[in-house]
Amino acid sequence: MGVFAEALCEGVCAVKSDVTSLIHELAERHSLTLDDYESLITNRTQDSARMLRDFAVRERVRIYGHDVYIRGLIEISNYCRNDCLYCGIRRSNSHCQRYRLTPEQIISCADEGYELGFRTFVLQGGEDSHFSDELLGGVVREIKSRHSDCAVTLSLGERPRESYEYLRSCGADRYLLRHETADRTHYSMLHPQEMSYDHRMNCLHELRNLGYQVGCGFMVGSPCQTARNLAQDLKFIEEFKPDMCGIGPFIPHKDTPFRDFPAGSAELTCYLLSIIRLIHPPVLLPATTALGTIDPTGREKGIMSGANVVMPNLSPVSVRKKYELYDNKICTGEESAQCRECLNNRMRAIGYEIVTSRGDVKL
Ligand code: 5AD
Ligand code: FES
Repeated sequence: MGVFAEALCEGVCAVKSDVTSLIHELAERHSLTLDDYESLITNRTQDSARMLRDFAVRERVRIYGHDVYIRGLIEISNYCRNDCLYCGIRRSNSHCQRYRLTPEQIISCADEGYELGFRTFVLQGGEDSHFSDELLGGVVREIKSRHSDCAVTLSLGERPRESYEYLRSCGADRYLLRHETADRTHYSMLHPQEMSYDHRMNCLHELRNLGYQVGCGFMVGSPCQTARNLAQDLKFIEEFKPDMCGIGPFIPHKDTPFRDFPAGSAELTCYLLSIIRLIHPPVLLPATTALGTIDPTGREKGIMSGANVVMPNLSPVSVRKKYELYDNKICTGEESAQCRECLNNRMRAIGYEIVTSRGDVKL
């Protein structure tokens, strides 16, 4: 071997063994430095991905077996007062056809979901002032009284502490609020000036203090995101230890300022899913719809990388296309029962089983 080739080989092998030792360290200590998270991302290879996946699946199987939890997503409103630059239902998108479900419609989606074996309902929507505490509280109470063995998760953005407190007192069990990015400067690139990184992080801490099971999360490959930013997201997850963590690739929406930015990849999303499973092994980790949109077998790949949750849509088919955060979202034409059946088959085909259970975090 020539001197040059030898030097090259040594370089490659050094990187390889470096990443390998980082993975071992992560699996044992559930923690790395910011620099090491960054290098785990930057120096990733097919081999390191395989190794991470093996460790992550082992942890997931140890805690949750081959069970996959399902959450029925009910998209209650696409009105939003916010103007996040990436999002298709942002206030400034005049092409978005706005809708809101009535309390009766929301409750009937949950009833239908219950029959299909769902034991968690996620009420998700834009920040819509029409949904007052009274209105939402009534809906949460009604769902909980009809289906006392179910969990209700809210995903309705930033609200005052009193609102979170009231909704919790009405029976809401969990709250999803993606932090979007744990880097202040990056946050300000993705959001209009009036939105605040600190406020968002405060909301997450308040939700936790109120006794909610809390979910954070971020997009993979969002505009201007660096490996350093992702390392910061991982460090935040390591410290915050969320009960749930939703991550999915950024996908451009044609009517947003980010329309011409490239989408994030399924490959990096799955790599990060494995890392997150190892950082906080009990975390409830969905293989998201965005992951299934960017890659037709993305959700399967997500589960095989360490995820253990899928969140099919229970919204009425008549509104599904309107809740378009990004282009080409999957499952907008299928009835709830079709998605349930489809996911059953998809999970079975890879050796997993969807279970009828609330699917609480196992700490
Ligand atoms: N691509 C991928 N995910 C998106 N979200 C919003 N817009 C997009 C997009 N264009 C995510 C955000 C939000 C969640 C509900 O959906 O992370 O918190
Ligand atoms: Fe909706 Fe497959 S999950 S059609």
